[in-house]
Amino acid sequence: MITKNDRAVWLKGGNALCSVTPQPPPGKTWRLVLLGAPGVGKGTQAQLLSEHLGACHLSTGDVFRAAKCLADGERSPALDHALGFMRRGELVPDEIVLDMVGERVCCLRCCGGFLLDGFPRTVAQAEALERLLQREKVALTAALDFELPIDEIVARLGGRRTCSGCKAVFHVTGLPPRVEGVCDHCGGKLIQREDDRPEAIRVRMEAYKKSTRPLMEFYQKRGLLVTIAAGKAPDETFQRTMKILNDVVAHSTNSR
Ligand code: AP5
Repeated sequence: MITKNDRAVWLKGGNALCSVTPQPPPGKTWRLVLLGAPGVGKGTQAQLLSEHLGACHLSTGDVFRAAKCLADGERSPALDHALGFMRRGELVPDEIVLDMVGERVCCLRCCGGFLLDGFPRTVAQAEALERLLQREKVALTAALDFELPIDEIVARLGGRRTCSGCKAVFHVTGLPPRVEGVCDHCGGKLIQREDDRPEAIRVRMEAYKKSTRPLMEFYQKRGLLVTIAAGKAPDETFQRTMKILNDVVAHSTNSR
């Protein structure tokens, strides 16, 4: 059993320390990018993969949402600016995202590995990530592209509830918590995200088509892209992902 990390360094930045000292996981260190439209299930799969592979779930959206909970005076003007984009469903400008990731670069070189969720989201971000990883002398294992028809995605987003404490993700019918409104993992309050309103969902889908879809070609050219059908239940999609990842590693010469 791998001990769950609270991801304090990633979520809080600055001088925060994670509650668990990172250890190289038994076997392999995984460094994955999770791609796919908003609501396809990246966060849900990241939770399952993290428990199984030991790598930390690093979501840029979670960092912005954590910043939203800070008192007004504690947020930098850049963060306030970023939260405006997020509320409307638009992408946060690359410079702000890259500054934020750059401040957390220790999470990219962490011996425990990482599951990047929501970053990169534009070709400029993917190029910047590539440079950061080269500088840190670590390589991506794969970029996983989760795919699902749009009407199913919209149904997933409408029923999503997220823990205000540990950020665990539930669904009112598909993945209900044991007690309504309460997180199974930490007892935190479950809330509906501001950007899960229909008008914000539409804007997010457009941003995805315009800015994020081109990343498939970016990772395809580098031989890193793996496409996964995400229409089944979370556990089934997870089992399928693990099988594909094991095949990828078996056929790769760079196994660590
Ligand atoms: P972010 O937090 O990254 O959101 P997103 O990409 O829109 O993705 P979601 O978190 O909405 O969906 P998901 O795929 O993780 O699905 P989930 O697992 O929750 O970004 C939010 C905003 O921040 C952006 O719009 C932007 O403004 C800003 N931002 C963040 N990063 C940025 C960047 N790099 N550049 C610029 N801006 C950035 O699942 C959804 C629901 O479906 C859940 O209820 C779940 O329980 C359910 N579900 C999941 N899997 C299944 C399944 N297999 N079957 C049935 N139900 C399922």
